[in-house]
Amino acid sequence: MKKAVVYKLDRWNPDEKIIDQAAEEIRKGHLVAFPTETVYGLGANALDEGAVKRIFLAKGRPQDNPLIVHVATTETAWEIACCDDRALRLMEAFWPGPLTLVMRAKDVVPKVTRGGLDTVAVRMPSHPVALALIEASGVPIAAPSANTSGRPSPTDADAVYEDLGDKIEVVLDGGPTDVGVESTVIDITEGLAVLLRPGGLPVEALENFGETVLLPEDLSREKGATLKKRSPGTRYRHYAPKCKVLLWKAEEDWPDVDGKRVGYMGIRRPPVDLDGDAILFDSLENYARGLFMGLRYLEKRGVEAIVADYPEKRGVGLAIRDRLYRASLAEFDEKP
Ligand code: TXA
Ligand code: MG
Repeated sequence: MKKAVVYKLDRWNPDEKIIDQAAEEIRKGHLVAFPTETVYGLGANALDEGAVKRIFLAKGRPQDNPLIVHVATTETAWEIACCDDRALRLMEAFWPGPLTLVMRAKDVVPKVTRGGLDTVAVRMPSHPVALALIEASGVPIAAPSANTSGRPSPTDADAVYEDLGDKIEVVLDGGPTDVGVESTVIDITEGLAVLLRPGGLPVEALENFGETVLLPEDLSREKGATLKKRSPGTRYRHYAPKCKVLLWKAEEDWPDVDGKRVGYMGIRRPPVDLDGDAILFDSLENYARGLFMGLRYLEKRGVEAIVADYPEKRGVGLAIRDRLYRASLAEFDEKP
């Protein structure tokens, strides 16, 4: 297939003609990669079964892993999901932004978009290019991260092109993303807020807002298992570079690297000299922002393994831990 066309856009003032052209591609059932504040998404008309199937094919994504539907207005969220009072309060407080709400789906959302589930995940991104594209398309846009399934998520247009350049029609290049890790996903279908995936919005922000955020393991066994099944995307090795990832946990020694040439990323200084193969961040937020790009960068430097600082659970640290943990799993391990 021919290579994707890449359009560079000013993120604060995206060229209307280019946005209209990309929106037309969406309406035709084609695939358009676009920046959000978290990571780049691979977009298609969420209500068009054929277009959504193409997303799964391009990414090599298992069919049972549902997609997030992106909207530009809360009215559109109403049209595709059953929004209760809690949903409306959360939308008002945190949208647009990195919070995804899993709610009961309405029938207009094809089964393939929701991975066969009776729920749908919805979010309103804050990136001006994403909002402009959704508005101009006139349809909600289903978009997983724009990477090959299992690889580190893309936080700039080059990473999208590297994985999907010959599989999709258009890449909108709005520069590197701000947050760097995906949205926080909570399930609110049971009258509770259950964290399915930690992400760019810290759990503390939800708690300060008055929500009690539960983990699936806090629920009864039966309910917890149902909810875990509902987020199949969080089950396997994921976000992984081609080489091994080793976690350097607090109060633990530097991992045994067995004489291998290793790269490093993290906040603490490594106890060994790694020259150009070490990436240091000065805050959890910057670690999150550079996490996926760092994994891809060190992989390109040809290191045999990557040692990653396993940060504290505070704030976006929880999401960094989650991504690193999954990247460190062996191929078909499941989370215990
Ligand atoms: O920040 C983000 O969320 C990015 C940008 C592009 O918006 N998107 C993203 O999509 O990370 P994806 O497909 O890579 O991850 C979606 C996650 C998966 O873990 C999936 O299982 C979960 O959301 N999910 C989607 N629909 C769900 C549903 N109905 N019930 C439970 N989990 C759902
Ligand atoms: Mg993903």
